[in-house]
Amino acid sequence: MPKLDIEKEVYNCWLNYRKIEDSDLVTVYKKRCMDLVFDIETSIVNSAKEELTNGIYEMLGIKANVSNAPRGSEFIVVGMLGKNKYIDDEVLPSEKEKILEDGYLVKGISKSDKNYTIITAKTQKGILYGTFELLRLMQMGKDISNVLVMDNPHNPLRIINHWDNMDGSIERGYAGRSIFFENNKIIQDTSRINYYARLLASVGINGVTINNVNVDRVASKLITREYLTDVAKLAEVFRNYGITLYLSINYASTIEIGNLNTADPLDQDVKQWWKDKVEEIYEYIPDFGGFLVKADSEFRPGPFTYGRNHAQGANMLAEALDPFGGIVIWRCFVYNCLQDWRDRETDRAKAAYDNFKPLDGLFHDNVLLQIKNGPMDFQVREPVSPLFGALEKTNHIIEFQVTQEYTGQQKHLCYLVPMWKEILDFDTKSKGKSGIVKEIVSGSFFNTKYGGIAAVANIGNDANWTGHQLAQANFYGFGRMSWNPENSCEDVTDEWVRMTFSNDKSIVDTISQMLLNSWRIYENYTTPLGIGWMVNPGHHYGPNVDGYEYDKWGTYHRADINGIGVDRTLKSGTGYTGQYHIEVADMYEKMETCPEELILFFHHVPYKHRLKSGVTLIQHIYNTHFEGVQQVEELIEKWYSLKGKVPEESFNHVLEKLNIQLEHAKEWRDVINSYFYRKTGIKDELGRKIY
Ligand code: GCU
Repeated sequence: MPKLDIEKEVYNCWLNYRKIEDSDLVTVYKKRCMDLVFDIETSIVNSAKEELTNGIYEMLGIKANVSNAPRGSEFIVVGMLGKNKYIDDEVLPSEKEKILEDGYLVKGISKSDKNYTIITAKTQKGILYGTFELLRLMQMGKDISNVLVMDNPHNPLRIINHWDNMDGSIERGYAGRSIFFENNKIIQDTSRINYYARLLASVGINGVTINNVNVDRVASKLITREYLTDVAKLAEVFRNYGITLYLSINYASTIEIGNLNTADPLDQDVKQWWKDKVEEIYEYIPDFGGFLVKADSEFRPGPFTYGRNHAQGANMLAEALDPFGGIVIWRCFVYNCLQDWRDRETDRAKAAYDNFKPLDGLFHDNVLLQIKNGPMDFQVREPVSPLFGALEKTNHIIEFQVTQEYTGQQKHLCYLVPMWKEILDFDTKSKGKSGIVKEIVSGSFFNTKYGGIAAVANIGNDANWTGHQLAQANFYGFGRMSWNPENSCEDVTDEWVRMTFSNDKSIVDTISQMLLNSWRIYENYTTPLGIGWMVNPGHHYGPNVDGYEYDKWGTYHRADINGIGVDRTLKSGTGYTGQYHIEVADMYEKMETCPEELILFFHHVPYKHRLKSGVTLIQHIYNTHFEGVQQVEELIEKWYSLKGKVPEESFNHVLEKLNIQLEHAKEWRDVINSYFYRKTGIKDELGRKIY
């Protein structure tokens, strides 16, 4: 068993650069990696240089020579296209054409007198990404002599949103405290932030918002001189890794920190205040990205107070940012959070579409709408938000949640990449043809100026960053999917396991399988068939079937003695299905064609209704809940098979989490099954224990 410094190992995540044991491979790699040619010096390229020399040192134990010309006949050359003859002579015109902004080419060259590997791109960021690609290949023991990898980011914007508060707490954080803030100040020692920037860049992330979308009193001041010097320091750390810094702002800043008594977006003083404010920010951070805004949502201020709409609100900020190239990222998570549970007409699921579809085309072209993947709120399963495919003339991006708020809070193993993949591959049938979500959000389908993918971060200052070590895979997987949603789940998972743990096939297979099955396992023992919620209010952990049933949040399951589910059809329900394009709407409208994993989201279904498998709904609920717990037991067995193969501390840590998961999965099973048994009086056909 490898004996490693576990703190370092878990801290380094997938950039651990484990020493390579295979001596043949070491010989081949050493020959190539001894001599590194870098012919430009910029802060981003220097990050690449440092990464490469460090990675080579860790993996091969050699200090590579770095200079601007090769010393011998075998080397690695890193440089921009069109600037270096070793690169330009060997990269085909067709290859040059295919490398787009921030994309890269890694290519092995074998000639009679020289053998070398090229890392090249059109931009410095591309060089950094290409360098991480080469290191990834080496970590996985792949050939780098005859390699040919060309890759371009599919999404212009690949951004991580932190929900970090200035007091150091993290909203929905399950991995310690903020790495940015403590005691209402910005943390001065940036070494951990620097490491974080490396992790982000290694998976292609190019944007970060450091503060919570719920901007409290102190955080409102991040855009004032009191804090901007420190914010600028963070921006610099990220800049070195090609990452742009954004801030969440308080929509009512003019009142909160300005001396105005209004935040009306059409008020001249308000407009001027923001123009001056933006100018001030750019004094400190010349490449500042822009603002992320949660407005008129869950008690946050917004333009509604002044009888204005979201386009008027967002455009006012956009005008201030425009001269500096900044953008406004405006969230669509807008709904009535003071609903009466007795009211069956209002449907929270309809809110985002109702609020934003009528505004399509009214936003300035430096405004991007950020839309949660589903119409509710990051449940274990939801349909795709109907806004995707509906907004034809507005820049928009999708928002995922890497932090596991509703998916086990980093106590449970729940690998979300397969879920994101399903969402990104969903066909909205927009314009009567195929409108796949990944093409819509990248901006290519409607040919919008911007596109991209955002996600709420799952990291904190825990030694292993993510609380559960295996939750690092969600962070890694999000980055890789946002870079290229064509990546397969299997490939991304395989990469992560190899880079984090080992290239040993049995380890790779076991951990990959555990990860890839875990989302469905979690779904099995928690809320059935797309209905969602059923969690304890407030902290959202653990089962509470009626926790949100008689509440104001618009989150109901409507279970009675005959059936469960929300009728969202046009025919007899809330009419939500009508927000989709006709083919999709038809599919959801009819119980027979509605995908069963979402049937309770769209229909109120009798417990005795037979599903396609032949079992009744109630029996399906019982079965999946017993099965889910059994599957967690199997996860534990699988993990046991790795005893002695993965570092002992990692083994014990994950085992401990899995045992907690098992206990809590049993709680879920018993609460859910008992609830439905008591509600219906229908017994489990297999006579298993229900309370
Ligand atoms: C959820 C979450 C909140 C968060 C909100 C948002 O409701 O529980 O903590 O603020 O989403 O996305 O704005």
